[in-house]
Amino acid sequence: MDVRAFCRQSRVLIVAGKGGVGKTTMVAALAHLAAGAGLSVLVVELEGRPGVAAAFGSDDALDYAGSVLSAAGAAPAESSTDADRVAPGTVRARHITPDEALLEYLADHGLRRISKRLVSSGIIDVVAGAIPGVKDILVLGKVKQMERDEIADLILLDAPATGHAMTFLSSARGLVDAARGGPIRSQATDVAELLTDPARCQVVLVTLAEEMPVNEAIEAAYALEDRIGIALGPVIVNACDPGTAPALSAHDAAVMAGVAADPDVVTALEAARVFLSTRAGLQAEQLARLGRELPLAQIRVGYVAAASIGKHEIETLSRDLALAIAGLPEPGKDRT
Ligand SMILES: Nc1ncnc2c1ncn2[C@@H]1O[C@H](COP(=O)(O)OP(=O)(O)O)[C@@H](O)[C@H]1O
Ligand SMILES: [Mg+2]
Repeated sequence: MDVRAFCRQSRVLIVAGKGGVGKTTMVAALAHLAAGAGLSVLVVELEGRPGVAAAFGSDDALDYAGSVLSAAGAAPAESSTDADRVAPGTVRARHITPDEALLEYLADHGLRRISKRLVSSGIIDVVAGAIPGVKDILVLGKVKQMERDEIADLILLDAPATGHAMTFLSSARGLVDAARGGPIRSQATDVAELLTDPARCQVVLVTLAEEMPVNEAIEAAYALEDRIGIALGPVIVNACDPGTAPALSAHDAAVMAGVAADPDVVTALEAARVFLSTRAGLQAEQLARLGRELPLAQIRVGYVAAASIGKHEIETLSRDLALAIAGLPEPGKDRT
């Protein structure tokens, strides 16, 4: 599949999975990839962590208004009529918090003067304590508004780790059922509509080729589809090994090459070979199981050996993504 087509399958991509599997890293790599294909990309960060910005080589903390993390050389300056709109080829990231989303919502509804006082009085915590899901719906309501306003070709949401993500994404349904009317219900209804429309929103699950993350990805996939009705894109298997080890033992290899190798060296090389081959076997087993138990296309991305993920690593990872995406079937054709 064409990268541009892949990135345009839905306007919002929610990147989810077990903690530590590489969600934030994949958000950065997908953002880089999409911007490289000329799209405007908005990354939504929920936890105020430095990961996404750091991956683009920035030390600045993200705030609600957001900042540009990378821009195509020839991209026009951001439109002055709408400061929120992202320019083509550009990655912008925002840290969306419930408090600031509420402030903005109130200001947009003619309540600017009281909004600051309301929010600073902590009323949001009182309301959130009484009505579970209110904070989540404020954040998702903001995402929905940005999607409707078409502020970017692609909005990438760096979701919380699986357990919390399920609660987060279920909030809309819960509130549609609980609230009889008013702004909370209407926000919740709009968010539920966004989440259940595959042309507007999909989830990309990230996993490692290891037993526990694969279990969690499979379980999450069914829960997301059944409980929330959200469509699933391909699953990203992150940090894969090349998965090959020499077939020949170190001893046989030395004999064939006619080398009189030090026995200690041969023993050490053989131990390394056995280790690699065992690891490759375990990975292949988990990849096969994932394929059997979760009928989704797989995008496999390699492990990058680096102390931390920065610009260079993101480029490598986004090339891996591009290669895997190129191998996916065209949309509309049956997935097998
Ligand atoms: N493909 C990869 N190769 C090597 N290290 C990776 C890769 N993907 C992620 N990491 C590292 O794994 C750790 C967890 O990644 P992160 O994206 O923060 O996960 P999550 O957001 O799911 O918690 C980070 O230290 C990150 O740098
Ligand atoms: Mg993260």
